Amino acid sequence: MNAAEHQRPLEPQLDDALPSAGRAAARSGPEVSIIVPTFNERENVAELIARLNVCLEGRSWEVIFVDDDSPDGTAALVRELGAADGRIRCLQRIGRRGLSSACIEGMLASCAPYLAVIDADMQHDERLLPQMLDALIRGEIDIVIGSRYAPGGGLGDWDAGRAALSRLAMRFSRLVMPAAVTDPMSGFFMLRRPVLNDSVRHLSAIGFKILADLFASSPKPLRFEELPYRFRARRAGESKLDSVTAWDYAMLLLDKLVGRFVPVRFLAFSIVGAAGVAVHFAILSLVFQLFHRSFVAGQASATLGAMTFNFAVNNVLTYRDMRLKGRRWIRGWISFVLACSIGGFANLGVAYTVYGLGRGWFPAAVAGILVGAVWNYAVTMMFTWGRPRK
Ligand code: GDD
Ligand code: MN
Repeated sequence: MNAAEHQRPLEPQLDDALPSAGRAAARSGPEVSIIVPTFNERENVAELIARLNVCLEGRSWEVIFVDDDSPDGTAALVRELGAADGRIRCLQRIGRRGLSSACIEGMLASCAPYLAVIDADMQHDERLLPQMLDALIRGEIDIVIGSRYAPGGGLGDWDAGRAALSRLAMRFSRLVMPAAVTDPMSGFFMLRRPVLNDSVRHLSAIGFKILADLFASSPKPLRFEELPYRFRARRAGESKLDSVTAWDYAMLLLDKLVGRFVPVRFLAFSIVGAAGVAVHFAILSLVFQLFHRSFVAGQASATLGAMTFNFAVNNVLTYRDMRLKGRRWIRGWISFVLACSIGGFANLGVAYTVYGLGRGWFPAAVAGILVGAVWNYAVTMMFTWGRPRK
């Protein structure tokens, strides 16, 4: 999100730019915008709105559901409800996934001075919202966090395994955010808009952990307050948290720590590539040693097998937010194999040239691998995953 041409402030100074009539109109917008990321939450939408209606009674608010084209028709339902109530809005994203990026784009789609993020499934206690708003209006803090770990809060009916994982993730969060935040993994908070404006071009927008991202990306330390609440059971539907969430979290931390120097997707791509080497040797020894086929047959099937492995795993991990499915998966696989085959030749060519310089086999091999990896990464990023979709 770094673009040099965007150095001016995000918000035009409305007071200066608008005639008085326009000024009045600008101020009739909502005071707080509630951003709700959704994926297959059709069953929860109406209930959440009903609860917002109750707890935000007398306040000026809107709710923006950011839906990643849920197959259950969440977006269509939100639009239907929005047709009857202008405070209900829908931002539908096609061919994209990701909780953090959904929240960021939802916040950017609003003009409210205060922005809240809450899940759709009633696990977060919406009754905190007015208190959060009042705390921000008082003016001494930047962000209010709903905390399960502050005194008075709780995890609800979490099993020991998930609670332990959450605590482990919390320890790692200390790498990028202040230790005083008791619930750095919280997905429930409210902030004042300048906090977003200051950090929006530095956000990693990877995975689930938007709060850690905001803290780590803010140019100045955020003044925060935590309000305790008890995490409730999900009302309907199922959790989208899975084992890949941990990988996403690792990538977020890596991006915050070294992203300035190396693109984190390249690191992910390289990690997957290293695993691909193991797959290569496994197939080679199977075909060549166990089935006694020719070495060339072994090497050819190992190469194709490793490429397929790399493609499939990168599709799930490195490019999770743009994951290819169905026919696009096949098309993606073909382009990946083609790109990596050319990368293979580039690797050989460079290695051969460097070897010719008489610097020994090791630097020659490393140079070849590096050039091949960068080529594969750059070309597949553009042609396998990045091509604009219909
Ligand atoms: N747009 C969009 N895109 N929304 C998503 C996506 C996605 O890829 N994945 C999940 N969501 C939405 C869900 O529909 C739900 O409204 C919300 O994000 C949280 O997803 P859950 O699947 O319910 O997550 P969780 O309950 O396991 O964890 C939540 O609460 C924790 C405690 O605050 C998340 O908010 C965690 O980040 C948080 O740590
Ligand atoms: Mn949930």
